[in-house]
Amino acid sequence: MEKPATASIETGRIVCGDNVAFMAGLPDACCDLIYADPPFFTGKTKTQADGKHRFNDSWEGGLDSFLDFLRPRLEQMRRLLKPTGSLYLHLDWHAVHYTKVMLDEIFGGDHFCNEIIWSYRTGGHATRWFARKHDTVLFYARQAGRQKFHVQHDGRFRTDGMKYDEQGRPYKQTKAGRLYFHPEGPAMTDVWEIPFLSTVSLERTGYPTQKPEALLERIIKASSDSDDIVADFFCGSGTTLAVAQRLGRRWLGCDISPEAVDLARRRVTGDQPRPPFPETGG
Ligand SMILES: C[S@@+](CC[C@H](N)C(=O)[O-])C[C@H]1O[C@@H](n2cnc3c(N)ncnc32)[C@H](O)[C@@H]1O
Repeated sequence: MEKPATASIETGRIVCGDNVAFMAGLPDACCDLIYADPPFFTGKTKTQADGKHRFNDSWEGGLDSFLDFLRPRLEQMRRLLKPTGSLYLHLDWHAVHYTKVMLDEIFGGDHFCNEIIWSYRTGGHATRWFARKHDTVLFYARQAGRQKFHVQHDGRFRTDGMKYDEQGRPYKQTKAGRLYFHPEGPAMTDVWEIPFLSTVSLERTGYPTQKPEALLERIIKASSDSDDIVADFFCGSGTTLAVAQRLGRRWLGCDISPEAVDLARRRVTGDQPRPPFPETGG
């Protein structure tokens, strides 16, 4: 039986446990935005040099077992989204294409919005193929056309050959008059150049799969408003929750790892420890 839609869930908490059970207890249509950064099906186990934070991404049953794990969780996420809500699912080349097919089934292909390429330069190099330097974030609307979306701006326009007005602003002369650029730069596209966290970044918590706050800031600003509910049911070190809090959103987190939950809780309360060593691992 469907639970009644409500926006009055208890926010500002991070639950430790399996997210599928946690999500099943939440009412329909209670979230404005869900960001999901699950295991990527890398087949690797990542361990921090201090040995404290461990992240296991190996799947004995292969790709099928990974997709079987993901499916009920993505179904729950769809159920939890408001009609104006959006899901951003973060993966990489290992399983993103199979998951795109599954999300088209769950959400309906018509509700697909973007395949965002997060491009970065750090990491290893390749000599037998091009170095793999991007992750993919799939953006789906609960109901395409109704989703909240605020165009974001970034970068600089090309101004070579342009005219400049009395205030020194570049413009293009058209039949209709002067055409000015947007003051905040070009509208963002679906290719995002954001540096990976460096080993000495002050943002680093020591969690092996931590994502940069700049990535979450774009997503949260584009697809939510102040006071909206932003959820991350694979919250890890709490990047989404920390950024949501800073941007004045309400938030809800979950992770199965007690170490991750402890770290995320300390992060949102400002009691974040600095890692003793740089990250190692796959
Ligand atoms: C890629 S990490 C998330 C990293 C996070 N975005 C950050 O910036 O720190 C994936 C997380 O999913 C958690 N996880 C895996 N299976 C889970 C499950 N069934 N329920 C809840 N969390 C789970 C792992 O413990 C891990 O912290």
